[in-house]
Amino acid sequence: MGNIERQVLHFSLLDSSFDKKSFNCGKQKLNEYLACHALRHQGIGYNRTIIMHSQDSTKIIGYYSLCSYSCAAVEFPDNTLKGFPRSGSIPCTLLTKLAIDLEYCGRGYGKELLTAALQQVLDSSKRIASVMILVDTNDEEARGFYEHYGFSRLPTQPFKLFLPISTLEMATRK
Ligand SMILES: CC(C)(COP(=O)(O)OP(=O)(O)OC[C@H]1O[C@@H](n2cnc3c(N)ncnc32)[C@H](O)[C@@H]1OP(=O)(O)O)[C@@H](O)C(=O)NCCC(=O)NCCS
Repeated sequence: MGNIERQVLHFSLLDSSFDKKSFNCGKQKLNEYLACHALRHQGIGYNRTIIMHSQDSTKIIGYYSLCSYSCAAVEFPDNTLKGFPRSGSIPCTLLTKLAIDLEYCGRGYGKELLTAALQQVLDSSKRIASVMILVDTNDEEARGFYEHYGFSRLPTQPFKLFLPISTLEMATRK
């Protein structure tokens, strides 16, 4: 088990100083992405990856990646896009990856990481419009995590989930 007992968490843009190779969330695709692709994708502006870690530590507790995205308006249920044109596409932010190292799972770190990602999306949407947060989940376990936090399934793509940024904004005002 990790020896971080609710220490102050830090969030930093991925750079080469972090120990990417030893990260293990139990899902090969997500481990491999961080170890082999995330830094290069960041370098070419394809994705941004944020690392959750404790102060002065290169150990990665968790990470998430975000990029811009657009999705056809017709993909969303009617009642979620009131006032928006139904033709064309909707500006979105895609949460492409999010994972916690197995050593730290089940202790609230996933919640902290998702909260940080959602806050970053909300802040960015005030400067560059984004209407929805989307996330691609690969399995029922991951889908369950996002549904726990109010994400809904796209009707035609049940493993792609969305959360209106207006909902997020209302939740943060409470
Ligand atoms: C999914 C994942 C991020 C959860 O992280 P975690 O640190 O174990 O989660 P937390 O301890 O912060 O749990 C926060 C809440 O989510 C709930 N939760 C966690 N995993 C869940 C799941 N699979 N389904 C439903 N709820 C879940 C917890 O019960 C907890 O609820 P509570 O606050 O009401 O008590 C982590 O298990 C992980 O990285 N899995 C592998 C990678 C993955 O599948 N990522 C998502 C797809 S990109």
